[in-house]
Amino acid sequence: MPKLFAGNWKLYLTDEASVALARAYGEAARETGAEAVAAPSFTALVRVAAALAGTEVALGAQDVYWEDAGAHTGEVSPAALSALGVRYVIVGHSERRAMGETDEAVARKAAAVLAHGMTPIVCVGETEEEKDADRREEVVRSQLRAALDGLHPTSERPVIVAYEPRWAIGTGVPCEPEEAAAVHRLIRRELEVLVGEGTASVRVLYGGSVDPSNVGGFLARPEIDGVLVGGASADAGKAKAMMAMAAEA
Ligand code: PGA
Repeated sequence: MPKLFAGNWKLYLTDEASVALARAYGEAARETGAEAVAAPSFTALVRVAAALAGTEVALGAQDVYWEDAGAHTGEVSPAALSALGVRYVIVGHSERRAMGETDEAVARKAAAVLAHGMTPIVCVGETEEEKDADRREEVVRSQLRAALDGLHPTSERPVIVAYEPRWAIGTGVPCEPEEAAAVHRLIRRELEVLVGEGTASVRVLYGGSVDPSNVGGFLARPEIDGVLVGGASADAGKAKAMMAMAAEA
């Protein structure tokens, strides 16, 4: 499988800037041949979808709710995202977990995304305190179990896992590729237990302070199937540089 470049634009851009970046992504994907995902803010999805039409870049969303309708003020349904052409949905991002999103909510979101024919990008990762207390394995395992139990991914219904150590997100201090690769091996072993044969259809991405200067180290690892990039993905030039490397990896 080719290595995936997924851009999480977080809350960095206006709708106008998102449209411009989407055009740049489309062009970059065409020139480099990279497989790419762009995840703008909800408010920009309609315009970004239009800007990406006819390109190879897939539309992503940064979050979702698990119900399709009802008294859920402020939430966005998986049905609505799917109707806009969204194909990937980030769930359980650490910035949301830090605001109180539970493992149970992450599991419901991932299941709802799959049920609507989209691909969840399930984020897992330990905090700095958990790493220092030697609890990384335990935390990553339990987040994975909670999110993937019962999902049964297949090549027709794929799931993506993103290993994003919280201490590496937005800090400019990425995990060493060697260390990330070891966690990816652990994730693979856990996936074999959780989803058996479906494991082959699960891509495992690394995320956390990835930029053009360090992305090559992650992409060179066979255990790492691509990258989920925040800050540097919101810069057209950096995104293109990373896509070029992903396409060649
Ligand atoms: P970062 O964020 O690249 O800005 O560290 C990664 C992410 O949150 O997905």
